[in-house]
Amino acid sequence: MTTNVRDLRKWKTEGKKFTMLTAYDYTTARWLDQAGIPVLLVGDSLGKMDDMIRHAGAVVRGAPNALIVGDMPFMAYHASAEDAIRNAGRFLQEARVHAVKMEGGGRVIGYTKQLTAMGIPVMGHLGLTPTFVNQFGGYRVQGRSDEAAEQILDDAKALEEAGAFAVVLEGIPSPLGQRVTEVLSVPTIGIGAGPHCDAQVLVIQDVLGLNPDHVAKFVRQYAKLGEAIEAAARQFDKDVRSGAFPTPEHEYSAR
Ligand code: KIV
Repeated sequence: MTTNVRDLRKWKTEGKKFTMLTAYDYTTARWLDQAGIPVLLVGDSLGKMDDMIRHAGAVVRGAPNALIVGDMPFMAYHASAEDAIRNAGRFLQEARVHAVKMEGGGRVIGYTKQLTAMGIPVMGHLGLTPTFVNQFGGYRVQGRSDEAAEQILDDAKALEEAGAFAVVLEGIPSPLGQRVTEVLSVPTIGIGAGPHCDAQVLVIQDVLGLNPDHVAKFVRQYAKLGEAIEAAARQFDKDVRSGAFPTPEHEYSAR
């Protein structure tokens, strides 16, 4: 059965931790669904709204059991509530995702209220929210001062009150992650927010060791697929050039 937003809240009340991973294509989504990952996020690092819709549709087709969340990309909801409604609506109608995610507090709290009132489930996202990185002056842990911590706590409460079914907490001190988790009745999903969050999310390329660049402190690599891909591609290239592939077992007979 497909995971739904009520399941997540139930798991919180039962103290049952859960996971979310990003997915951007059909094949990966299939494997993650088969692995029993209950929530998949089509992350906005992918591109603009049209790209998001196309890839989210593929993830939905590949993962019939997971709750699929479409990440609203930069400028998809920044100019107006109309944009937020139209683009969130596109995600549900065209890609068939089950929910959308938006970053930040402030105006997003009002958008959350409007979308949930229209039956569009919203996941909040606070802390080191990537689309605010220019305003933060780089990838810096957020909520370290008392004032900043209170702001995150207040925003989290306001998002819950506005109807958010879960809140992602990114790049904040663990004690703040714990405080927010204890105060909210909807689940918190942490990424660099400590072990007390109700759930944890990671980016799939980081988990699989596909990211050749800097790996953040909060990441654990569970595989080294980048190296495996390179080795396999090199061997294929070598075999073709040496004549070691294909061999008779890969050939079709005439009849
Ligand atoms: O797009 C993203 O990668 C995210 C993280 C929270 C996983 O939003």
